Amino acid sequence: MRYLTIALAKGRMAKKSMELFEAIGIPCEEMKEEGTRKLIFVNEDLKVRFFLAKANDVPTYVEYGAADLGIVGKDTLLEEGRRLYEVLDLGIGRCRMCVCGPREAADKLKHHELIRVATKYPGIAKDYFYNKKHQTVEIIKLNGSIELAPIVGLAEVIVDIVETGSTLRENGLDVLEEIVPLSARMVVNQVSMKIEHERISRILDAMRVLLREQGGRMI
Ligand code: PRP
Repeated sequence: MRYLTIALAKGRMAKKSMELFEAIGIPCEEMKEEGTRKLIFVNEDLKVRFFLAKANDVPTYVEYGAADLGIVGKDTLLEEGRRLYEVLDLGIGRCRMCVCGPREAADKLKHHELIRVATKYPGIAKDYFYNKKHQTVEIIKLNGSIELAPIVGLAEVIVDIVETGSTLRENGLDVLEEIVPLSARMVVNQVSMKIEHERISRILDAMRVLLREQGGRMI
C-alpha cells in the first residue's frame, strides 16, 4: 500500500491537528519526540506519514500531490489561491482577518483616501480593497509584526489576523473593518481524492463525527 501523506502547517495549529488525527485513530508517536530535527514522521502500521511545512507551502505541496491531505488556515488558502479541494472546517485556530489601525484612520478609510496598507496578505488585501470596496490603496507587503507599521508611520492601516485582540490593544490599535472569519481547514489533492477515495473518505467521516461529538469544546 502506498503511504498517505499529510502536510501540516508548522506552528500553533500543528499540535491541535495531531490531536485530531490521534483522536480518530491515526496517532504518530514519532512526532511527539522532543527536539527532533526529523522532517517526516511515519505511522508504519497505517501507512500514513506526516510532515510539517511553512503554512504558505502547505497548499503548494497539496496542489502538486506531494501531500494527499493538508491542514492549513483559511487565510493561507485565500492568499495562495491553489487548486485543491477544501473539504472540512476543523474549527481550530478560529480568528478574523481585519483592517486595523489607530482610530483616526477610520475616517481616511471612510473617505476613500489613498492610504497605505501594510500586510502579510497582499492578495487578500488587494481583493478586499479593489474588488469588494472598490477603493484604491497602496499595498505594502511585510513578513511579520505587522502592528508596527502604523505605529512607526509606514502605513495608515494594516490587514492582519486578530485572534484575542491583545496585540492590537497593547499597541493602541483597533479593528476598523472585518474582512473574513478564519479557521483551520482540511484540504485534499484533486487526484488523491479519486485514487485514495476510500482512505480519505474514512478520515473525513471520522473527523466529522469527532467534530460533532466535541461540539464547542475543541472549537
Ligand atoms: C499574529 C497576527 C497578530 C497576532 C494576533 O501574529 O499577525 O499579530 O497574531 O493575535 P492576538 O489578536 O491574539 O493578539 P503572529 O504571532 O503569528 O506573528 P507575526 O506577527 O510574526 O505574524
